[in-house]
Amino acid sequence: MVQLQYLPVGVQGAVKLDEVRAEFAAIEFPFADEQSHPDRNAVLAARSTIQSAVVDNEFLADCIALELKLISATGFPRGLTPFLTIPDLGIRFAFGYWPPGGTPGPHEHIAWTITAVCRNELEVQTFDRAESYRRRELVPKNHFSAVAGRVGYIYEPSIHAPINTSADWSVSLHVSSPRGGEPIEDCAELAGLSTPRRRRLPPSTDPYSRVVATRARTQRVHVLARALAGMNVAAVPRLLDECAALGSHSTRKLAARTRGGTTALDERGAYVLRRTHPDLMLSRRIVGDTVALMTETTAGPVEDLAMNVVAADAIAYAAKEPLFDARDLPGRITDEERILIAEALEDSGLFTREA
Ligand SMILES: [Fe+2]
Repeated sequence: MVQLQYLPVGVQGAVKLDEVRAEFAAIEFPFADEQSHPDRNAVLAARSTIQSAVVDNEFLADCIALELKLISATGFPRGLTPFLTIPDLGIRFAFGYWPPGGTPGPHEHIAWTITAVCRNELEVQTFDRAESYRRRELVPKNHFSAVAGRVGYIYEPSIHAPINTSADWSVSLHVSSPRGGEPIEDCAELAGLSTPRRRRLPPSTDPYSRVVATRARTQRVHVLARALAGMNVAAVPRLLDECAALGSHSTRKLAARTRGGTTALDERGAYVLRRTHPDLMLSRRIVGDTVALMTETTAGPVEDLAMNVVAADAIAYAAKEPLFDARDLPGRITDEERILIAEALEDSGLFTREA
């Protein structure tokens, strides 16, 4: 049984997103409303197209442009939310973001899926599905290292566990069947296997969920901005501006540097921060020579920010004021330190910069 194969990148002509869509339209995939899977040859043809496309920065920039639209429209899409679904075929294109150590754990695919590493690298452990179900425990099969540009696919139902073992973020592109989210029937419980349902967080009305989403959004947008900054593509300046609008100070600085300007000149002027959700309950806590900003959540108090106690007055001010200019942070601190504290507040997701 073929589980997940990573093949060498082919040296073929450039393929943009529109061309990829045109090539997919020519492949014999079932229509989205048909309850059938494509032939293996159709998935192999699609993999070949993606293999050529993923090494083309124009294609990746096209995909990132749609991803930024999705992020802008949704705030922060959870899981593998597609930035593109091909009409009629229902084939979904989505980015996956992998922080250092990030993994969804061992999980099962019952429908075809193509995975391309776009940035950095991933390690993939596959499991012998039939033997795993027979023994009721995960039975390792193969292990792959996949660097940027490598493309793998799954055709038969398979179990695998990708992980980012590197110290930097990785990004993957997932092109998958519209049947990918269907429930898995007639399978026994398998220890150690995570299911999409278990991995998906329920919607939350807790104001803190907006903090988590804000932090996730700015981290991911920054990864996209770093990818864009290394591309020699006409759309990059416009897309970096979009990243800067959706990201945090790090992304604004990166966009400014890439444009050839000095870093974050605007933040030497007004740098106004607003509490990410008006109902967030913040408080200051001092322990020894450390000051922390605490947040009340439905799961109890959370500490998202801790720094030297020299920032105690500034943190107390941030805990009290829902909207303030970094230049007004009180305490015996320098203007440079005021900016650093404001940047840490923004990185925490508890505060968002006013445009
Ligand atoms: Fe997977």
